[in-house]
Amino acid sequence: MTVTILGIESSCDDTSAAVVRDGYILSNVIASQEVHRQYGGVVPELASRAHQQNIVPVVDAALQQGGVERTAIDAVAFTRGPGLPGSLLVGISFAKGFALATGAKLIDVNHLHAHVLSNFLQERGSKKEMPQFPFLCLLVSGGHTQLIVMRNCLEMEIIGQTIDDAAGEAFDKCAKMMGLPYPGGPVIDRYAKEGDPGAFRFSKPCMAGLDYSFSGLKTSFLYTLRDKCREDVSFAEHHLADLCASLQYTIVSVLMSKLEKAALQTGIREIAIAGGVAANSGLRNAVAAAALQYGWNVFLPEFRFTTDNAAMIALAGYFKYEKQLFAPYDSIPAARCDAIR
Ligand code: KG4
Ligand code: ZN
Repeated sequence: MTVTILGIESSCDDTSAAVVRDGYILSNVIASQEVHRQYGGVVPELASRAHQQNIVPVVDAALQQGGVERTAIDAVAFTRGPGLPGSLLVGISFAKGFALATGAKLIDVNHLHAHVLSNFLQERGSKKEMPQFPFLCLLVSGGHTQLIVMRNCLEMEIIGQTIDDAAGEAFDKCAKMMGLPYPGGPVIDRYAKEGDPGAFRFSKPCMAGLDYSFSGLKTSFLYTLRDKCREDVSFAEHHLADLCASLQYTIVSVLMSKLEKAALQTGIREIAIAGGVAANSGLRNAVAAAALQYGWNVFLPEFRFTTDNAAMIALAGYFKYEKQLFAPYDSIPAARCDAIR
C-alpha cells in the first residue's frame, strides 16, 4: 500500500507545498515573498496576506507536478510551529479545509524537526547516503540555532541552543548594517569569497556548555563599523568583501566550536547540518574539514532543501503517518517550539 502525503509550509515568508509518496519526493513548489525585501526583513502582516494569495496556486502546482489527484492524498502535513502565528494560521486552515473536503488525515509538524529531516529528502532512485541514528544535527536558520540529537526519525533532543539571536539573524542584521539587501546571509556568503577572513576581528561569545549567543558579536560588528565610518563614511562599501569574510569566519567558528564540543561530549560521529544557514559555503567547508580531522561522517542537505520547503514537512508527516500520529481538527498554531511535541 502506498502512502501519499501533501506537505504545507507557511511558517515565515515562503509559501510551499509538496507531495511525498512512500518517503520519496514527487514535487516541491515554493513561492518566495519578494514584498519584504523593501523593508529589510519579514513584515508579519504582509507575510500572512501573501500566504493567503499563494496557497491555492502553490498546492495546485504541487499536485499537478507530482501527477497526483486530490483524492489520492492520504494525509495533509502542515507546519504547526514555530513561526509567525498569522502565517501559520493560513497553512493550518488550508490543511484543515483540504482534509475535511477529501477525507485525508491531518498531521501537525514541528518545523525544526522537519529541517533536521531534510537530510533524508530524496527522489526515488537516488543513491543518497543517509545519516544513521543516533546522529547530531546543527540546525541553523533565520530563527533558530540548535544542537540536536536525533535518536530515531521522531525523537529529537535539543542539547544546546542560542540564548539570543540565531546565526541567520546575525548574518541578516549585520548585512543590513552594511546596507545589503534582505536576506543578507547569501549576499554575505557571496562577498566573503573575495575577502580576507582575518582582516577584522569581532568578539566571540564565552558561553559555558553547548549554548550559543550571537548578540555580542552583532554589537561588536556594529561598533567596528561605526568607528571606521567616522574616518570614512563609505567604509562598508570600500571594505565589503573583507567585512563579509571576517564576519562569516567568526560566525562559522562559533558554530563549529560548539558542534565539535557536542560531538566530543556525546561521542556521536554521524554529523548533519540543516536550515537556511546550512547553505553557507564557509560552514559547509568547515564541516567537511572537521570530518577529516575527527573522522566524522558528515551529511549536508541539498541546497534546495536548506531553506524553508514543504518537502521536509511532508517527509516528517510521512514518518508520523507510519506511527499513526494524527492531529486533531482543533489544532492551532504554536509560535514557539517548546509548545510543540
Ligand atoms: O531555514 P530558513 O529558510 O528560515 C527559517 O526557518 O528561519 O533560513 C533563513 C536564513 C536567513 O537568515 C538567511 O540569511 C540564511 O538562512 N541563509 C544563509 C545562506 N542562505 C540562507 N546564511 C548564510 N549563508 C547562506 N548562503
Ligand atoms: Zn526554517
